[in-house]
Amino acid sequence: MKNTQLAGRKVPAMGIGTWYLGEGSPAQTEQEIASLRCGLDHGLSVIDTAEMYGDGAAETLVGDAIRGYNRDDLVVVSKFYPWHATAAKMKVALAGSLHRLGLDYLDLYLLHWRGSTPLRETLAGMQALQQAGLIRAFGVSNLDVADLKELAALPGGDQIQANEVLYNLQSRGIEYDLMPYQAKRGIGLIGYSPFGSGAGRSIRLPRQVQEIARAKHLSDHQLVLAWTMRDHVLSIPKAATPAHMTENLAARDVTFTPDELASIDRAFRRPTHKQPLEMI
Ligand SMILES: NC(=O)c1ccc[n+]([C@@H]2O[C@H](COP(=O)([O-])OP(=O)(O)OC[C@H]3O[C@@H](n4cnc5c(N)ncnc54)[C@H](OP(=O)(O)O)[C@@H]3O)[C@@H](O)[C@H]2O)c1
Repeated sequence: MKNTQLAGRKVPAMGIGTWYLGEGSPAQTEQEIASLRCGLDHGLSVIDTAEMYGDGAAETLVGDAIRGYNRDDLVVVSKFYPWHATAAKMKVALAGSLHRLGLDYLDLYLLHWRGSTPLRETLAGMQALQQAGLIRAFGVSNLDVADLKELAALPGGDQIQANEVLYNLQSRGIEYDLMPYQAKRGIGLIGYSPFGSGAGRSIRLPRQVQEIARAKHLSDHQLVLAWTMRDHVLSIPKAATPAHMTENLAARDVTFTPDELASIDRAFRRPTHKQPLEMI
């Protein structure tokens, strides 16, 4: 299984996304819990959620799914709204997340995206939560290089453990500058929406990429996901059913030859200049 590092821990390069989970019928919820457990039972450990997802419904679902698992084996990541990015509001937001998750600490807590609260204040709030033992590590999401440089210059800014950003075949802009910047500074890269989010259900690959998938006995989804799990990226696909989860799990060990990667690059161009960070 491909592994990477997150917040000082060795973790599988595939994590579990949870956006839109926990919002459906009881039967759907049951499927979703089964999907998460299928991932955990097959060695996944990182679960990505947020107070935003279903207004807490995804965190509640995660809490139900992880009950009975060994806490030390799990790496639970959640995110707070930018308007909860002051020390006082973050503390309340975290208490809500922990309650819904049924946990007494988070492994990683992220600012979901940048808002109007000064980063200095947000950093101080995250440090206080860490000192209180309520979070093991902290980081950010949807921040570009300039934001990360600004953070790095602040007290405690060098303690940022991760930046979670959009990364898939259609959205490769981060390869130009953000990825190398984070690699150099040891900031973990969590890549979200590997299938392009909701549109993931109907991925259509160009013929030359489909041929690579067929030659490697992969589905289009497996190829797309496997491609994101390169260069220490922790990819967090969301799968609402055990069938999707099982298909995705099989992508963990897929590697590509330089020729295959070059062919994929011809279909989905590498960035050759700075592109503004895309976000969903
Ligand atoms: N930090 C941020 O701002 C941010 C933003 C977006 C997402 N995220 C995180 O990243 C996670 C993943 O991104 P995402 O949920 O936007 O999209 P995604 O993982 O790129 O795509 C999810 C879509 O792909 C489908 N899918 C999954 N496996 C499949 C398979 N094997 N075959 C066919 N279809 C498959 C899912 O269908 P089913 O649901 O039916 O399985 C769903 O429609 C989120 O859940 C969230 O945790 C973070």
